[in-house]
Amino acid sequence: MRKPLSILFLFFISLFSACYYDKAELVYPAAANCDTANVKFSSTLLPILNASCNSCHGGNAAAGAGIILDTYNGVKASVNGGRFMNSILQNGQASAMPKGGGKLSTCDISKFQAWINAGMLNN
Ligand code: HEC
Repeated sequence: MRKPLSILFLFFISLFSACYYDKAELVYPAAANCDTANVKFSSTLLPILNASCNSCHGGNAAAGAGIILDTYNGVKASVNGGRFMNSILQNGQASAMPKGGGKLSTCDISKFQAWINAGMLNN
């Protein structure tokens, strides 16, 4: 009687531990595996903007309400206007972006913040 019970016990323990260890965001919090140290406008941020924003905010797109996010100057102007971070943080202080799409990942949002903190280099 003892042995089957302890096997059952171990089985339940392994079930619960699997639930915990399978969740990547719990094991590796965003800050730990998110590289915000080597952010460059052209190779890090522009691809994110092209993938999530520039169907509407590219220079040739009419849908972006005049906000241009496929050039350095356009992004800089939007950040300086104060709306950019509020829109991707979706904090209620600007229209939530990407419009009609899912929120950017925490890691991608922190890459924009890191680039702004470093002085918005055109790199
Ligand atoms: C489907 C089209 C679409 C996509 C995709 C999109 N936007 Fe927008 N964006 C708009 C429109 C339209 C507006 C004008 C305001 C509104 O209608 O909410 C806007 C407004 C903005 C504003 C100004 C917000 C304000 O309150 O003044 C910012 C900043 C912005 N977008 C950034 C982004 C960023 C960054 C992304 C990608 C992460 C993105 N947008 C993706 C259509 C889009």
